Amino acid sequence: MSDNAVERQEFRKTLGQFATGVTVITTLDGEGAPIGVTASSFNSVSMDPPLILWSLAKDALSLPAYQKSGAFNVHVLSIEQDELSNLFARRGADKFGDLDFVPGVNGMPLLADCAATFQCKTRHQYDGGDHCIFVGEVLACENSDRAPLVYHGGQYAAALPRQDQGATGGDEVDLQQGSFTSDFFIYLLSRAHFQFSHALLQPDAALGLQRAAYYVVAVLCQQGGLDRAEILERIAVTGHSPSEEVFDKLCDMGFVTRSAAEGGAPDGKYTVTDEGREFQVSLLARSMDLEEQVLSGFRPEEIGLFKNMLRRLIEKTDKGLSNMWS
Ligand SMILES: Cc1cc2nc3c(=O)[nH]c(=O)nc-3n(C[C@H](O)[C@H](O)[C@H](O)COP(=O)(O)O)c2cc1C
Repeated sequence: MSDNAVERQEFRKTLGQFATGVTVITTLDGEGAPIGVTASSFNSVSMDPPLILWSLAKDALSLPAYQKSGAFNVHVLSIEQDELSNLFARRGADKFGDLDFVPGVNGMPLLADCAATFQCKTRHQYDGGDHCIFVGEVLACENSDRAPLVYHGGQYAAALPRQDQGATGGDEVDLQQGSFTSDFFIYLLSRAHFQFSHALLQPDAALGLQRAAYYVVAVLCQQGGLDRAEILERIAVTGHSPSEEVFDKLCDMGFVTRSAAEGGAPDGKYTVTDEGREFQVSLLARSMDLEEQVLSGFRPEEIGLFKNMLRRLIEKTDKGLSNMWS
């Protein structure tokens, strides 16, 4: 133990603010068995000659192998390889199991499907406190367009390009003119919603259904036996208030049935029919296809971020209106 006053926990937490990638570094032991560890201490050193470094804890079981092998391969993990990272971070485990690898130009194990690889000859080894620092000369390197796995604050993360444009909210709206720019947040949200639902409902145009009719069927698929007032209350959040005519049309089409009026329900109660449910199911199937199509160009982490943002927006704007889908 040194007499340095920097508190261990604080040091670790502070280092965590430095976002890094995650690598798996492989070599061979004296018996020629493959060895590997997860390391985020990787960094570049020199362009000419091309040098990189990383550091390994002195108590790592694999340390002697790296000290003696004279070469190693660095695999920069992709966003999909978090399990590989966990596997190689397990002390002393049989990490290779039935993992596919080939010998690299330096003879060391080379794993597939990574974001990038550096095949190195060990040039220097330095003492670094409780770690040993390895400097490698790069003999070959390869990169792909796979998104890298990020490590930040002790957690895996994803790197997203910054999207500064439109984030300021500055001049999105001209209150004198009543006009707005295409950066106006509510405009972007509304336009995306309208375009999505237009593409979704367009194939049914021949049915002549008003948009409110879709909401009525959706509500009745969740719960049957509701009267008109109860249905209207659930749909209120959409801003639609379907007229008698809409309900009559849905009955005529055989999508819903209306019970005879009685004391408790002077207008009768509505229930969805098998045809109505089929209609709703086909609409949902179409929604899923459309979603897949529309989101196909986005990265999983972008979609996750976007969904989280929408959830937070829904929470923030909830004024207690009835939720038609629950
Ligand atoms: C994201 C991540 C980054 C890591 N980075 C390092 C590192 O740079 N150096 C190190 O010595 N250990 C690091 N570790 C821990 C080692 O991977 C772990 O101690 C490993 O079990 C050592 O293997 P061994 O004892 O079987 O040789 C990291 C672990 C994780 C999950």
